[in-house]
Amino acid sequence: MPRIAVIAGDGIGPDVTREAVKVLRCVTRGSGTELDLVEWPHGADHYLATGTTITDAEVTELSDQYDAILLGALGDPRVIRNEHARDILLGLRFRLDLFINLRPVRLLDPRLTPLKDKAESDVDFIIFRENTEGVYVGMGGTFKQGTPDEVAVQEDVNTRKGVERIIRAAFEHARVAGLERVAMADKANAMEHAGGLWRRVFREVAAEFPEIESEALYVDMLAMDLIRRPERYRVIVTGNLFGDILSDLGSQLAGGLGLAPSANIHPGRTSLFEPVHGSAPDLVGTGQANPLAAILTSALMLRHLGYAGEAERIEAAVRSAVQAGATTPDLGGSLSTAEAGDEICRYLEQMKN
Ligand code: NAD
Ligand code: IPM
Ligand code: MN
Repeated sequence: MPRIAVIAGDGIGPDVTREAVKVLRCVTRGSGTELDLVEWPHGADHYLATGTTITDAEVTELSDQYDAILLGALGDPRVIRNEHARDILLGLRFRLDLFINLRPVRLLDPRLTPLKDKAESDVDFIIFRENTEGVYVGMGGTFKQGTPDEVAVQEDVNTRKGVERIIRAAFEHARVAGLERVAMADKANAMEHAGGLWRRVFREVAAEFPEIESEALYVDMLAMDLIRRPERYRVIVTGNLFGDILSDLGSQLAGGLGLAPSANIHPGRTSLFEPVHGSAPDLVGTGQANPLAAILTSALMLRHLGYAGEAERIEAAVRSAVQAGATTPDLGGSLSTAEAGDEICRYLEQMKN
């Protein structure tokens, strides 16, 4: 039985994670699939109460004794430097070596895109974001802090191994899914060292996949083109920071952060699943957070764990609810977070009959 650590986290994290867990229970009820869901208390409250973010022993326990981690969100206005989120979220990405950050962007209903005259099939791409390097590694420092001569250096780390494995993962996905083209985004015109490595490795790996077209783009042009003609894109591979930015941009093309799931994967190891959105301090206590991103995230987790049937049923239920307008206010509906979760369970029950 897969063992899953549930880290609900901060802000709306617990609200949306509760619904994802509810839906996991609905989809597995009577199906013969069993999941061992174990709640972990980590987040801002735990940090403020205990002074610990996450311990080495806990990271080892997750790595050795769990199959997956389902995370809500981390980020709390009381933790100004955000150190607990860095330790837990970025810490797990780095320490479990979760090098693939998979962020699908899929339009479920034309009504939800701000772009005009676009159908579902026009907004349907997946971002392969490098997840263990880039400016996220925290290398650098400050000098003369607090003086007019202050200096801040934040290094951008790109290794051949790191660049190659994410690019290969993107091409392998395109091959398995039968997709015609992989686009790589960098900023080689300004950042020649990092860009040079990305472009060389991209060309080399692309040569192993002759049936798949490849194009190297500048990330600014890609941001523009995703708005102009998203239908050209099916697979995008990019670095950590550009992937972060493009995935928020992409989410908005398909209805916003309330619908955007993500997976942090190292094939064969404990992987981490979380919505793209954060803890949304502005929504805390309103009961209006959209749980569908967390629910779609749980579908990504099930697929990763080998339960493709259950994953598809969740995705179909979400599509039905969205198309029926049975959603929270961010998507134009009037349901609360809990009612939106109930609605997905209702569709799942209907599918069983
Ligand atoms: P955010 O994603 O929390 O919110 C951005 C906007 O999107 C807000 O207007 C919010 O109301 C809306 N939104 C987000 N999730 C939504 C949902 N489920 N339903 C409806 N609307 C939703 O981003 P932010 O405001 O930049 O960050 C808030 C905190 O979250 C910060 O501490 C940040 O570091 C953290 N954060 C954490 C994660 C994570 O844990 N994976 C991701 C992003 C941001
Ligand atoms: C995300 C978030 C994180 C990131 C933050 C909270 C560090 O924005 O998962 O997209 O930048 O990766
Ligand atoms: Mn982000």
